[in-house]
Amino acid sequence: MTGVFCYTCAKRFSYVRNIYYIRFAPITIVNYMRIIIPVYSLISRATFCANMSGSSDKGRVLTREERFSYQNVDFKLADAVKTDVIYKYFRDASTEEPKVLTEETVGDEHMDKTVPTTYIIHGFTTDDSSPWYKPFKDELFKLGPHNVIYINWQKAGNKSYSVSSANIDPVGKYIAQFILASGVLPEKVHIVGHSLGSQLAGFIGKWVQKLSGKKIGRITGLDPAGPRFDYPEAPPTNRLCDTDADFVDVIHTDIQHYGYTPPLGHVDFYPNGGMDQPGCPPRQIDVNRHHARSTLFYIESVKRKAKAREAEYHEDPNHNVTIKLKEDPKEIIFGHHVDTTARGVYYFQTNANAPFLRL
Ligand SMILES: *[C@@H]1O[C@H](CO)[C@@H](O)[C@H](O)[C@H]1NC(C)=O
Ligand SMILES: *[C@@H]1O[C@H](CO)[C@@H](O)[C@H](O)[C@H]1NC(C)=O
Repeated sequence: MTGVFCYTCAKRFSYVRNIYYIRFAPITIVNYMRIIIPVYSLISRATFCANMSGSSDKGRVLTREERFSYQNVDFKLADAVKTDVIYKYFRDASTEEPKVLTEETVGDEHMDKTVPTTYIIHGFTTDDSSPWYKPFKDELFKLGPHNVIYINWQKAGNKSYSVSSANIDPVGKYIAQFILASGVLPEKVHIVGHSLGSQLAGFIGKWVQKLSGKKIGRITGLDPAGPRFDYPEAPPTNRLCDTDADFVDVIHTDIQHYGYTPPLGHVDFYPNGGMDQPGCPPRQIDVNRHHARSTLFYIESVKRKAKAREAEYHEDPNHNVTIKLKEDPKEIIFGHHVDTTARGVYYFQTNANAPFLRL
């Protein structure tokens, strides 16, 4: 792979190849431009990514005070329409071209209502070509029969962060209506969302309850977005919370930065303490890598059953966060195969490279 993949921005930078190319080449105007253009695009992209957190100091971990200085989501800014959401249905492992469905057509699709149904949801500024979708879908089908639905809400989630984060309310409603129209019982549904997609998953859960009185079976938040959601006065009605589904599990890999910091589900995993993930370059070099690790850990957990140990979330008066193992800690399986009756905060360490999970 050349360049660096920016998960939040869905852009691949190819500056690395360009810079190697120039190392032994004479400095001509063309070669000079080969360096300047990629470096310029890297800087402008990094600034764009940093705008998600409202931070101009790219890549630095924010203090909690800094994060709290940004307002709550202003839901009045929402401008999404129903056709902004695209649903792609995979019936089984051999489905190469998924079927594009709508709320009107999903009922005629006769999905198998007895098997687990998983919705996969990307975050801010990406779409269903996000690099974690396909490997996740492939692992799910290895477990047995499934319905897998790719959500693409790029039209509503690729605006400014203020508008995109407000759009999770109407988009949550549209997806809730789709789920109810599918005929699959909400309790059979598992929604897995990354970043702003986790917050969106929470709104789907809230809307399913408002519209039908029923709860989604499970929501998994892969490093739920922190900016504009994570501050003490924000009510749980404005973010993912543990009443949004029968079971809500969360993986924190980029706390105090793009990820939501305190526990917010029934089970909250803080791999490696939740902040600095081994094997990731510093945020100044790649602002998204820690945030994206949550997807890699989760996908691996579909086939590798690693243990996590019970811990305590502690925040001191300076808002420094520590995740401390309990004495004689309980052990549970991390990730996809977690015991859904478990509760609490859990810690484990990973390897720097795949396979990440230690068995
Ligand atoms: C998001 O919008 C930008 C700017 O309009 C565009 O360049 C980019 O391709 C869009 N990203 C996606 C995933 O659609
Ligand atoms: C806690 O946070 C303060 C202010 O952000 C910092 O100066 C201090 O070094 C931190 N303490 C520890 C133990 O990390």
